[in-house]
Amino acid sequence: MRNVSKSGCRTKMDEREIVSASVVSRNLVYLSAVNPASRRPFMKTLLFINACMRTGSRTQRIADVVLAKLSGRYRVETIDLRDNTFSPVDNAVLEDRNEGIVPETHVELARKIATADRIVIAAPFWDMSFPAVLKVFFERTSLFGVTFHANERGCSGLCRAEKVLYITTRGMNIKTGEPLEQATPYIQALSHLWGLGDLTVVAAENLDYSTSEEVEIKIRQAINEGLRICDEF
Ligand SMILES: Cc1cc2nc3c(=O)[nH]c(=O)nc-3n(C[C@H](O)[C@H](O)[C@H](O)COP(=O)(O)O)c2cc1C
Repeated sequence: MRNVSKSGCRTKMDEREIVSASVVSRNLVYLSAVNPASRRPFMKTLLFINACMRTGSRTQRIADVVLAKLSGRYRVETIDLRDNTFSPVDNAVLEDRNEGIVPETHVELARKIATADRIVIAAPFWDMSFPAVLKVFFERTSLFGVTFHANERGCSGLCRAEKVLYITTRGMNIKTGEPLEQATPYIQALSHLWGLGDLTVVAAENLDYSTSEEVEIKIRQAINEGLRICDEF
């Protein structure tokens, strides 16, 4: 196909050529599928999506230990959302997408998601879910033809990771899977869209209403649980 980047995706930088590009399905950005074989490194890859926004984050403390262990078996790539370079998808973004124009950096990130063998997400529990920056990141990287396909019969994911680990800490005593806990159901649903495999959650709860000694015990317990999960992850 003409007017595609090396990776097969039209990007904002190609704008001059886009005019004559053979095109895109209506309302959907058409991006060519990833070729995982061409990017497979020697070690399997683990993508770490870090949405621990706070300096001294307790969620991060748990994630750091778990990732240190996993880095023995996986090549860890980190996407650090504290850099916060993403803006929400708005009308201008959608109009670009309808022309097949997507920032190359976002396509690259979506490819990292699609080709990762494992994904770890660390995000504190905010407003009964996770920080908005993580949603914006998902919005920007959920790309038709890269992370998923969809048609009138439903969706099929294009991502390779068979396992996803979500690490979180909560201020209140809210357990994973309770109706008030709206982070896990969202990540689960997005995993369905993207074709990601089993989702495992490690959570420490009630941290804002525990003594500092209790907090340390809960974090230690969460770390131990995470380390146990590593063996099968
Ligand atoms: C902006 C913000 C929103 C929060 N919203 C909730 C909430 O809805 N429910 C809850 O249980 N805790 C909430 N908390 C408390 C955090 O979940 C809790 O302090 C958590 O341990 C923070 O993680 P961190 O130490 O990794 O930053 C919120 C904290 C912040 C800063």
